[in-house]
Amino acid sequence: MSGNEIRQKYLAFMEKHGHAVIPSAALVPENDPTTLFTGSGMQPLVPYLMGEAHPKGARLADSQKCFRAEDIEEVGDNRHTTFFEMLGNWSLGDYFKAEQLPWFYTFLVEEVGLDPEKIYVTVFQGDEDANVPRDEESVAIWKELFAARGVSDGVAEMGSEEAGGVRGMQDGERIFYYDASKNWWSRAGKPENMPVGEIGGPDSEVFYDFGTEHDPAFGENCHPNCDCGRFLEIGNSVFMEYLKTEAGFEKLPTQNVDFGGGLERITAAANGDADVFTIDLLWPVIEQIEELSGSQYADNHEAFRVITDHIRGAVFMIGDSVLPSNAEQGYFVRRLLRRAVRYADALGIPAGEFPNLAESVIATYEAHYANLTMQRDTVKTAIAGEEEQFRKTLEKGLREFNKTLSVLTQWEGDAEANNQGTFMPPESIFKLITTHGFPRELVAEEAVKRGITLDDRTWTAVDALLAEHQEKSRAGAEQKFKGGLADQSEKVVEYHTTTHLMLAALRHFLGEHVHQAGSNITGERLRFDFTHPEKVERETLDEIETWVNNAIATGGDVTIETMAKSVAENDPTVEGSFWDRYPDEVKVYTITGKDGTIFSRELCGGPHVSKLEDIKGRFVIKKEESSSAGVRRIKAVLATD
Ligand code: ALA
Repeated sequence: MSGNEIRQKYLAFMEKHGHAVIPSAALVPENDPTTLFTGSGMQPLVPYLMGEAHPKGARLADSQKCFRAEDIEEVGDNRHTTFFEMLGNWSLGDYFKAEQLPWFYTFLVEEVGLDPEKIYVTVFQGDEDANVPRDEESVAIWKELFAARGVSDGVAEMGSEEAGGVRGMQDGERIFYYDASKNWWSRAGKPENMPVGEIGGPDSEVFYDFGTEHDPAFGENCHPNCDCGRFLEIGNSVFMEYLKTEAGFEKLPTQNVDFGGGLERITAAANGDADVFTIDLLWPVIEQIEELSGSQYADNHEAFRVITDHIRGAVFMIGDSVLPSNAEQGYFVRRLLRRAVRYADALGIPAGEFPNLAESVIATYEAHYANLTMQRDTVKTAIAGEEEQFRKTLEKGLREFNKTLSVLTQWEGDAEANNQGTFMPPESIFKLITTHGFPRELVAEEAVKRGITLDDRTWTAVDALLAEHQEKSRAGAEQKFKGGLADQSEKVVEYHTTTHLMLAALRHFLGEHVHQAGSNITGERLRFDFTHPEKVERETLDEIETWVNNAIATGGDVTIETMAKSVAENDPTVEGSFWDRYPDEVKVYTITGKDGTIFSRELCGGPHVSKLEDIKGRFVIKKEESSSAGVRRIKAVLATD
């Protein structure tokens, strides 16, 4: 049975039971700053679960696009994916357990055709601290359903996942009580993790038994919540009736149901194959990868799964207008595509094939997701662009890697550093990762290829540098553009020095009336306001670009002088604005070319690069526009492609 078919059947089944079928919300939540992505079907419906009336009534159903960024690293086994569809139905203070459990069970057995012998369920054992009782009501309903199908209905006390692994399961047991870590659901997890104001409740999960052999690596004995892969959770009915308050849990004004079931997993169960990648929604991409790589899925499960999952995730994300970038949601699209490139390279897939894999995803899904048809070109172009850009970054990073190695032999008096075969300084690795965007795993792989051992001590030191770096950028961001800089990361500093060169060029080509009127610099671009009465023609912008790029290419040093403000202010060679914002003692930064030419001399608080060689990228003016009366604004980047 196909995923497309099961989605249709489920929505039709719910419609038959009085539900209004609503469209999937976008992957990026609207009006919800607490989370980057929609990660479950209920997220877009929170206001309604809390009591607001929904225009479509009290019974709703949909198939919601979901993305779980935290699962990126998990992808590779037979069931984890970052993107998935969650079949969902909701009762907004309408029906409750007595309807929900039989409906889902009937759907699984009669519509999907699952064997009742292979269905197992879990229920909430109660939580005294949270003052929430044991869910005997659900147990009674399940018992009746199982008896009617002539299957066993034994009840077992499991407690935690760990305790379940010790106890295991006995013949005839089908209903299992677990604690709040397993059978309580809220967006924040178990009761004690929920913030005041959050809603949640006990739940009852349904598992499908694929009958595979237990893997003792996951615990002594198997049980429904064991992670060995024998049991797969295919649906969760949350009885959403509690609100966390300062005083503890209170009942919501109405009893709600929040049901979510993974479409891919239900389809896998329908096909009796625990590998979700073999279902119709994912298999076409796997087949295409086999063709492109000449390798077999069976021999390369992890790589095939990562590429397939990540391309699909990127297609849906871009389809919802999230383009690859370094910020927020876009960063995850970038990460998906870049990881996919690495795995594709390992399989020997030729460059430039990603848009074709994306086409296959679109073809599979467009009948249900019309936005993919509309966005087809955007999706494929963005994916092609990111693939290409990343390949360039990799090439450049590899060159830098090799350069780093040749430097190592030149370190005089440092026997360890010169022992190239065994050592690579953590600082060099840190720089490759942060400045050149060379992925950490690649550093490790390239080192191995050259017989260099990067031991735990080295990686611990690299991690410490990375953590410090992150801390700095965070602290920088908190300072909110202090001195016009987003932070003091390397890239921001490069942009800052470039901005000085640009101001010098503006003054050179436009005249001495040009002064800084404002500056805002991030690690991605500079934005600069300057005094000038009219539009600057593109030709002049081109000349300015060339002047700045030549200055950078010629090389040279940036030096700092400290002097009395009165001296600097009266020195005609020192350019400056906002003099009154500076203390009596000021710093003047001078950029001097290798041949002694003074490119720029400017009042500033820093920081700056010390050598022009440290500025990476080609200076490009992206935009020139009016900022306010008599002030123009330039946006420019240091392009690395
Ligand atoms: N909201 C519940 C879940 O995501 C149904 O599992």
